[in-house]
This record gives sequence, C-alpha cells and structure tokens, in this order.
Amino acid sequence: MHAWICKDPVGVDALTWTELPLPVPKAGEVLIEIRAASLNFPDLLMVQNKYQIKPPLPFVPGAEYAGVVQSVGEGVTHLQPGQHVACLSGTGGFATHVAAPAALCMPLPPGFPLVDAAAFIMTYATSHHALVDRARLQAGETVLILGAAGGVGTAAIQIAKAAGARVIAAASSDEKCALCQSLGADATLNYGSQNLREGLKQLTDGKGPDVIYDPVGGDLAEPALRSIAWRGRYLVVGFAAGPIPSLPLNLVLLKGASLVGVFWGEFAKREPKANTAMMQQLAQWYLQGKIKPVIDRTMPMSELKHALAATGSRSVKGKLVLVNA
Ligand SMILES: NC(=O)c1ccc[n+]([C@@H]2O[C@H](COP(=O)([O-])OP(=O)(O)OC[C@H]3O[C@@H](n4cnc5c(N)ncnc54)[C@H](OP(=O)(O)O)[C@@H]3O)[C@@H](O)[C@H]2O)c1
Repeated sequence: MHAWICKDPVGVDALTWTELPLPVPKAGEVLIEIRAASLNFPDLLMVQNKYQIKPPLPFVPGAEYAGVVQSVGEGVTHLQPGQHVACLSGTGGFATHVAAPAALCMPLPPGFPLVDAAAFIMTYATSHHALVDRARLQAGETVLILGAAGGVGTAAIQIAKAAGARVIAAASSDEKCALCQSLGADATLNYGSQNLREGLKQLTDGKGPDVIYDPVGGDLAEPALRSIAWRGRYLVVGFAAGPIPSLPLNLVLLKGASLVGVFWGEFAKREPKANTAMMQQLAQWYLQGKIKPVIDRTMPMSELKHALAATGSRSVKGKLVLVNA
C-alpha cells in the first residue's frame, strides 16, 4: 500500500508519498481499500499543526474517505469483505488502504457512488447538526449562509432548503454565487463586491436573517451579527478566514439573539444515538435526491499537494475528491 505521510506538520510541502506494509485489522477494525477521499478544511490545518486535534506523529492525513472492505478484525460482525463503506476517522484517508475503526464506518446502500460517499459525512452531518439541531431552523425562516459555495456551505444550502427555509447564500465571487443559486438559494450576496449589511437589509426588508451559519469568521462575523433578526441564532461553525473574531456582546442583548456553538465531532461522540439517527436521515435524503454533494472535481490521489493548495486559495467550489486508480 501507499500513503501520504506527515512526519513533521510544517505544511503541505513536507508530505511524502510512501510505501508501507499492508496493515492487518486489529479487533474492532476493518481493512478498507480506499477508492476516494475528499478534502475538508481541517485536513489543511492539521498538516500545518493549526488544528485543535493534533494526531501523534507520523500520521497519514485525510479525515474522510470511502472504499471497499477487504477484511475485518476480531469482533466485527456488522461489516463484511466486499461491502462499500464511507468512513470519517480523522486521519488515514490519503492512502490506498487503511485499517479503520469499524464503528466509524457507514455501510453504504446500493446506488451510493463512492465519490459522493467520500464527500458526504463531514459536511452534511455538520450542517444538519448546526441548522436542524442547534438552531432549530423552522420552515419559512430566513437563513444566511456565509462561505456558501464551500464544502459545509453547499451542504447547508441543501439542508436549509430541505427544511423549508429561505436561503440567502453569501460568497466572495459572482461565480460562487451562481453555483449557490443553482443549488436552490433564494438570493445571493457577493461579499467580495457588496456591503454585507446593506445587502442583508435589502434582502430581508430590514428585518435581518433569523439564522446565520458562519464557517468563515474573520471580518464577516461582526457585520453579520449586527444584521441578525430579533431572536436570531448565530451559528459558530468555523474560522476558514483565519482570525477568530471577537464579538461585542451588547449586539446579542439588543437582538434577544443567541450565539450557538457547533462542534459536530464532539456531538457524535457524546450523543452517538442521536448522531446515528441523523446520519440515517441524511442517507435517506441522499437516496431521495434531496441532497447531493457538489463535487468541484476529482483528481488522482498523487495530486494531494495541488488539492490542498486549491483549498487554501479559496478556488474550490463544493468539494475536491482524490481518487485511487
Ligand atoms: N464546527 C464543526 O463541527 C465543523 C465541521 C466541519 C468543518 N468545520 C469548519 O468549517 C470551515 C469550512 O470548512 P469547509 O471544509 O467547508 O471548507 P471549504 O470548503 O474550504 O470552504 C471554506 C469557505 O470559506 C471561505 N473563506 C474565506 N476566507 C478563506 C480563507 N482565507 N481560506 C480559505 N477559505 C476561506 C471560502 O469562501 P469564499 O471565498 O466565498 O469566502 C471557502 O469556500 C472550516 O473552518 C472548518 O474547520 C467545522
């Protein structure tokens, strides 16, 4: 087998494509032949030592992937060789094979292509947990999605529409806004060229969005919070822009608003039954055609460094997926 190895988390250039012995799955593990692995923003942060979770060195990056079970370790009864699975184990995915915890594998129903499956769990679980569970988004409410053409952003558009909400998708270019419109956004706002507060005033008749989904942070956070509606919910999802914003709490008081933290990985650990039920609903929505990962492009696994560079330069729309030949 081969894998991209991170011996020293000093950045993308230090990753090396290395031959390794094929692992034998331990008790509770399965050996997966990886067919596709998607990029998530934390993959980029992890190889730069900037992510909150710091795996022991050396490690194989790649949080999320899909493939075919080759063999199972002791005690694994719900998965069999030949079965197609998606897995989100945090690391191990940018490789040809991985020994992964069976408990983290989602068996795929027939008709679920492996490229879509590799780009499914992280973004849809995060956006569903954020909008449906944390914000209690109601049909007819207006939701503003920042970074709406990105991985979690595109999933958030589809989930908010499935929940019957009105979606304002905000992104940094007209091209990204056009993609959001094609995914069903009711209105778009290009914050690269338009003033966010003015745009939101016009699009909501001065009322502001009921829910704000923010995976970007940086300079967008404060004007977005200033625009929120009475009893609004501001979802703190991530900080793709880099700086972690500090927000004046008087704005929360004045709007009777809530600042709501979203940490899907911790939710999945602490509330596994609720997470399993959510994943089952999401798989059903996929099969019913209500949600579908937006795949910007697939690239060979050997192109990982280019794929990570594209993620860092904001040039990806939806998801990038690396595939093994
Ligand atoms: N809380 C959770 O449970 C959870 C789970 C998954 C991910 N996240 C977080 O959510 C964020 C987005 O993740 P993702 O996988 O969707 O990332 P992504 O696909 O790369 O999308 C991020 C978006 O952020 C915007 N952005 C603004 N400044 C940027 C910059 N300096 N560099 C890169 N992008 C920038 C870009 O949109 P524009 O160009 O349109 O501004 C981009 O489309 C990350 O911070 C990630 O850690 C949180």
